[in-house]
Amino acid sequence: MKLGKIAAFAAFAIAASTASAQTIKIGFITSYSGLNGNLGPYMERAVRLYIKEHQKELPSGVKIELITRDDTGPNPDKAKQLAQELIVREKVNLLAGVVFTPNALAMAPLCTEAKVPFVIMNAGTAVITTRSPYIARTSFTLWQSSYPLGQWASKKFKTAYTLVSDFGPGHDAEDAFSKAFEAGGGKIIDKVRVPLQNPDWAAYMQRVKDAKPGALMVFIPAGKTATAVMKNFADLGLKDAGIKLIGPGDITTEEELPNMGDVALGVTTVFHWSLVGKRKANEEFVAAWKKEYGQNEIPNFLSVGSWDGTAMIFEAIKQQKGKLDPDKTMEIFKHWKFAASPRGPISIDPETRDIVQPEYLREVRKVNGRLANVELETLSKAEKDPWKELNKKK
Ligand code: PHB
Repeated sequence: MKLGKIAAFAAFAIAASTASAQTIKIGFITSYSGLNGNLGPYMERAVRLYIKEHQKELPSGVKIELITRDDTGPNPDKAKQLAQELIVREKVNLLAGVVFTPNALAMAPLCTEAKVPFVIMNAGTAVITTRSPYIARTSFTLWQSSYPLGQWASKKFKTAYTLVSDFGPGHDAEDAFSKAFEAGGGKIIDKVRVPLQNPDWAAYMQRVKDAKPGALMVFIPAGKTATAVMKNFADLGLKDAGIKLIGPGDITTEEELPNMGDVALGVTTVFHWSLVGKRKANEEFVAAWKKEYGQNEIPNFLSVGSWDGTAMIFEAIKQQKGKLDPDKTMEIFKHWKFAASPRGPISIDPETRDIVQPEYLREVRKVNGRLANVELETLSKAEKDPWKELNKKK
């Protein structure tokens, strides 16, 4: 009897210790305050929903602990400090999240030093993945959308003007669009880079109007800034003057469409996902979101990058039976393919650790009385980051 009790206790102790050894800690850094502080929950909700729906697929005894931190917007010093704390004090197995490029860049050296894999679920400047071998990205690059946009636009417009936020992804959108537009025979009349926070939109829009381009290509970080662009574009009369507003999908992010109103109608964008994209995996994803968070709630593209990023993390956990080795994790990430992404089939390019994904030409139209990014055409089924492709050493 006594022996039996001891044996039972020992078995329990072993089970308990393996269980705790198999808690996977994910340090999740995103923006819950500051510029576009409303975006963080779109990412976190996706991660939590994926975990909830797929927990049962994990090896038995394995649990995921998500430790969330607010980087307060584009704030590299804060992001670096948070990453350091998560690595040193919380001993996280993985880092994930991050809306803004400067934050991702500030965290990259820490990942290399500590060998902590970092799954980028939004930040989209091309160079990010080159900054650490421990980074893999499940979101997008601005080149992936803006380069095919420039190719498409060069067939429609003789001239274009570019207006971008003055930081990494803005510079990439400007470079990618201009390169493709000019290669296709178009002429860029002028390029303007505006401050990331609170630019004087009316003044910039007046300059564009006076220059009379066929199209205005805009990149600003998704969120409230997109609505400010749209309102000023209409108020200053650019739409009425026949200037066509185009850009990567960040300028017509779904949660802002109702705030923009009908001025957004006809805006043409290139992007990897849309809320109304007619794919089974997308319809299931949106339905699961509404069931969990409420019928009036919708995911956005940051949710998709985070959902898929969590699916990739699950694959690494499953293949390693719950014991994560950073180098093996990166090998698994590099060869990850996911047919059931809401955006269509995706994979990671093993050479660059960057996402390979479809790109759609979309136009804002009304669907059942609501503004939506209607996918008109698939421009590419498997777009690699064009910046990396064009800069490959021959
Ligand atoms: C970025 O900082 O990389 C970024 C931010 C917002 C976006 C896209 C990219 O909509």
